[in-house]
Amino acid sequence: KKYTVLIPAAGSGSRMGAGFNKLFLELVDKPILIHTLEVFENDPSCEGMILSVKEEERLDISRMIAQFGITKVKMLVEGGAERQQSVAACIHAHPSNGIILVHDAARPFIRHEVIRQLVETADVQGAAIAGVRVKDTMKTASDTIVEGTIDRSTLWSIQTPQAFRYEVLKEASDKAEADGFLGTDESMIVERLGFPVHIVESAYDNVKMTTKEDLLFGEVLLKHRRQEDV
Ligand code: CTP
Ligand code: MG
Repeated sequence: KKYTVLIPAAGSGSRMGAGFNKLFLELVDKPILIHTLEVFENDPSCEGMILSVKEEERLDISRMIAQFGITKVKMLVEGGAERQQSVAACIHAHPSNGIILVHDAARPFIRHEVIRQLVETADVQGAAIAGVRVKDTMKTASDTIVEGTIDRSTLWSIQTPQAFRYEVLKEASDKAEADGFLGTDESMIVERLGFPVHIVESAYDNVKMTTKEDLLFGEVLLKHRRQEDV
C-alpha cells in the first residue's frame, strides 16, 4: 500500500542548544534530516515526501537534498510557529486521497516494519500511531508532592509516524484550526473528532533527537545498525 509522508522540519531545536536547527547536525556522517529522509527514500511504498521548512532554511535544505541524492521530496512548504501549523501547511499542499504519514524530521531511526504496519492499520481503520509501552512507574504530582500512581499497563509513550486516511487528517486539521485548538501530535486533533485511533507497537530506539544526550545514543545506535545490518 502506497503512502505520502509529511515531514515537519521547521523547528528551531532550542532544547538541543546548538544555536541553529538541530536537523543540520551530523550524526556520524550525515545531517539528522538526511538520515530521516533516507528511510523514506529507501521505502518502495513511499510515493513522496512533503517537508515544511523555515523560509530562511529553504535554500540550504534543498541543496542538501540534492547533494545526498534524495529524489522523493515533492515540495518544501513554509512551516509555522508551532509544529501543528507546520504539519497543516503540508496538508494544505497535498490535497489528495490515500494514506498520509506524519513523521518528525528529528526521528531518524524509525523502522520499515513499523511504517508498514502503520500504513496497513490506517488503511483499514483510518488512524494509527506508533508508540511503546512505558517502562518506568508513572506518578502524578502537584509541584513535587506525589498525588498518585497511574496503572502503567494503560500507558503508552507516543511517537511518530502517525498515519491517517487523508480525509480523516484533513477534517481534524481544519477543525483544529477553526477551533483554535493546538495539540502536541496529530492524534490529539483526530481524537477530538471522536474518531478511534489505533496504536501500533513501535521500538524504544525510535527516539527523537531532542537534547545532547540523544545525539550520543543516536551515534551508538547508527554504528550498531550498520555493523549488524538490522
Ligand atoms: N517542527 C516544525 N515546526 C515547528 C516546530 C517543530 O516543523 N514550529 C518540527 C521539528 O523540526 C521537528 C519536529 O517538528 O522535526 C518535532 O519537534 P521538536 O523535536 O520539538 O523540534 P524543535 O521544535 O525544533 O525543538 P525544540 O522544541 O527543542 O525547540
Ligand atoms: Mg519543539
